[in-house]
Amino acid sequence: MNTKTRVALLYGGKSGEHEVSLKSAASVLRHLDRARFEPVPISIDKQGRWQLQDPRRLAESNSESLPIFADAQEIRLATDAQGALAAAPIAANGEAAAIDVVFPVIHGPLCEDGAMQGLLELAGAAYVGSAVMASAIGMHKDIAKRLAGLAGLPIAPYLVASRRDYRRDPTAVAAAAKAALALPVFVKPCNMGSSVGVHKVKSWEELGAALDDAFAYDTKVLIEQGVDAREIEVAVLDGDPPFASLASELNAGPQHEFYSYEAKYLDADGATVDLPAKLEPAQMSRLQELAITAFTALECSGFARVDFFLDRVSGEFYFNEINTLPGFTAISMYPKMMEASGTPYPALITRLIELALERHAERAGLKTDYAG
Ligand SMILES: Nc1ncnc2c1ncn2[C@@H]1O[C@H](COP(=O)(O)OP(=O)(O)O)[C@@H](O)[C@H]1O
Ligand SMILES: [Mg+2]
Repeated sequence: MNTKTRVALLYGGKSGEHEVSLKSAASVLRHLDRARFEPVPISIDKQGRWQLQDPRRLAESNSESLPIFADAQEIRLATDAQGALAAAPIAANGEAAAIDVVFPVIHGPLCEDGAMQGLLELAGAAYVGSAVMASAIGMHKDIAKRLAGLAGLPIAPYLVASRRDYRRDPTAVAAAAKAALALPVFVKPCNMGSSVGVHKVKSWEELGAALDDAFAYDTKVLIEQGVDAREIEVAVLDGDPPFASLASELNAGPQHEFYSYEAKYLDADGATVDLPAKLEPAQMSRLQELAITAFTALECSGFARVDFFLDRVSGEFYFNEINTLPGFTAISMYPKMMEASGTPYPALITRLIELALERHAERAGLKTDYAG
């Protein structure tokens, strides 16, 4: 009898971060503890098609990005009459593959924002990472900051503008920004990532063009006080209490105004990393405390990477954002920070799967009807 836990690795995704996911998934497949786990790789192509891939065939490709073989069997997630989860064939003559837990190794909108998590909930799946609400909040820069602020985390001042208001009266939006904030300001779409649509505005004449571009990506946009900032990140791993890693610092190269899309993905020398970040011990422990507070306040599960700004002038840490499905190649920041803090990548994967199963078992024990 097969006693290994069958782990569905979801990868690809109908998202702008499809390629990053292929890399993360290749790392996870390579480092999954095969003594305990059996991988069930499921690709999602850019059209949103789900296919069951053969792990041996994937391993043979030996590439840095996990391939999606277009001839693989098309499947959907389904539960049988006993509630057991499977990758169920679409074709009548196909074969189903049983699943015990899902690891969504995917990023970006529809993958990380609660939509996928909702689908997994409906399928009754145990899955790695945050549930619907925390995923959705983590993706929403305004609501995430409001909740983190309520929990006591310092937040850089910002305004939110809706596309409707902006179209109706662009001068009023600019006037509100000028009244509340000082240059430079950052303009960013509310629900994006990877610095897409983010602009540093150094003179008020540039604000209109920045807003026009940011509104191309979202109907809500943040206009935020620019901070002369060091950019510091912390990895949080769930537990009772959650664990915060050593922080790392990202230094965008001098050729970049900020940690832009170009610095992140296009320029091989776009940024350097200090791990651990060069901080005083007291700063490091305050940061770890703030990261755990954010993780808890937003009701995250499993793991999250929490990103801060350290104001060079005031020495204050500002909460910037939380990533509920952080980049997860073996050399991504989240795994690197955990490794530097004592949990190597393979053990981290194992722990995340265990946490998913524990949470699922706990929730399965809750009453779903009122017995009086
Ligand atoms: N208020 C700010 N002050 C200084 N730099 C900022 C500010 N907001 C954003 N940035 C810069 O823009 C980058 C991307 O912004 P961020 O809010 O992290 O969005 P994303 O989700 O796209 O990563 C940051 O890493 C930082 O370099
Ligand atoms: Mg960011």
